[in-house]
Amino acid sequence: MKICCIGAGYVGGPTMAMIAKQAPDIEVRVVDMNAARIAAWNSAKLPVYEPGLDEVVQECRGRNLFFSTEVRAAIREADIIFVSVNTPTKTYGLGAGRAADLRYIESVARTVAEEARGPKIIVEKSTIPVKTAGTIQTILAANARPGVAFEVLSNPEFLAEGTAVADLLAPDRVLIGGERTPSGERALQTLVDVYARWVPRERIVTTNLWSSELSKLVANAFLAQRISSINSISALCEATGADVDEVANAIGKDSRIGPKFLKASVGFGGSCFQKDILNLSYLCEHFGLPEVAAYWQGVVEMNDWQKRRFTSRIVNALFNTVADKRIAVLGFAFKKDTNDTRESAAITVCRDLLGERAQVVVYDPKVSAEEIRRDVGGPSAGDDCDRLQIASSAAEACAGAHAVAVLTEWDEFKTLDFGAIYAGMSKPAFVFDGRNLLDHAALREIGFRVEAIGKVVS
Ligand code: UDX
Ligand code: ADP
Repeated sequence: MKICCIGAGYVGGPTMAMIAKQAPDIEVRVVDMNAARIAAWNSAKLPVYEPGLDEVVQECRGRNLFFSTEVRAAIREADIIFVSVNTPTKTYGLGAGRAADLRYIESVARTVAEEARGPKIIVEKSTIPVKTAGTIQTILAANARPGVAFEVLSNPEFLAEGTAVADLLAPDRVLIGGERTPSGERALQTLVDVYARWVPRERIVTTNLWSSELSKLVANAFLAQRISSINSISALCEATGADVDEVANAIGKDSRIGPKFLKASVGFGGSCFQKDILNLSYLCEHFGLPEVAAYWQGVVEMNDWQKRRFTSRIVNALFNTVADKRIAVLGFAFKKDTNDTRESAAITVCRDLLGERAQVVVYDPKVSAEEIRRDVGGPSAGDDCDRLQIASSAAEACAGAHAVAVLTEWDEFKTLDFGAIYAGMSKPAFVFDGRNLLDHAALREIGFRVEAIGKVVS
């Protein structure tokens, strides 16, 4: 059997590497039109940083895992084609800022129809709006060579970045949606058999197409909703003297609520949560459900507020002005153990601080200086970026700073020598812990003024 995956991104690359590892008899070809990305997948420095991924790729690359730009050839040869291209939020026209931009999906469907000379199973891996499988089917049917049959399956990916390899190795569930026709059932079974090589059968859930497509959006919406819920409570904790971590612990002990995804923070980021909720909310409107749309939209609004609120606290604490003050930003990735910065809260916080005329010095262990500049910059940034610096260590970022803001929960920040950092900072020296990561009592002991999320540090 031959599998090809179109799109060598954060989802396609690691997922295919795991399939290749678990199924040495299947040839897996990952293709992308981005030649630089493919070159990186073929090099010693992979384009995606994930703990454990290097080992998996090294084991399989050249054996049954191949990365190439030959999209059309790979389509012709494959039995199963995973579609793992990006589906960003539309920036133009109808649904701008909310709906998913499906042009990459459509373009892939057209290419598949042009190239396919025999039957193919098309698997939607990208997160897409409900009913996209219908669009793909229509495009394939209208453009296919005579006699070529396609089956479209939905197989959303639930891996989280930073734990991709562990998540792929032992997923909570694999979800596969397909049409309940004889040929649909056969296609479904073919894909079930691929995953069943390492995933216990009871964890492989099969549904109809629309349930599968919708479940991905709903899973992300529920996860994000929990974060916005606890973040909303963090503001109330700061106002009342309650401690949000204690509240989260207390409510999380209720088995009906559970302890996960209750960590208050400067705001959630990542390529999925915001995009998927906006998409879900747009879908609801499309289907005539404005109340449902508004309900979910609130999760994103709360997150935006939480990010802005963090910068306001910095400005207020620093005597209502940060102009020309040096602020060390520790962490830029949207969470630890990834080099991904998409929708990272750090982008908003840095932009807002620069807008307040601060000198912002960013340090992140995995994100490149070019990426940080690209993210913070942009047409509206103007001259602000002149005041943005990138440091190559936390100590360098903090030297001479008025305040330190922790925006990503990298482990290395927990063991920094804050005594030495304090000695080198302007006084009074502040720490703003956007992840409730540090030992606040110890920082106070050193002499820092400390502000954290959802608690009064005294
Ligand atoms: C998410 C989903 O978890 C995953 O199933 C889906 O496939 C893709 O989207 P990901 O975006 O990689 O994964 O990361 P996740 O661990 O969910 O974190 C998302 C954001 O929420 C991060 O910015 C993280 O720091 C933040 N977060 C997470 C919190 O602020 N508090 C929490 O308790 C958990
Ligand atoms: P994700 O996080 O969902 O994996 P990424 O943006 O990281 O998304 O990756 C999507 C990849 O899909 C990109 O590398 C992009 O170049 C690729 N891609 C988009 N459209 C096509 C296409 N028509 N043919 C081949 N590759 C494509």
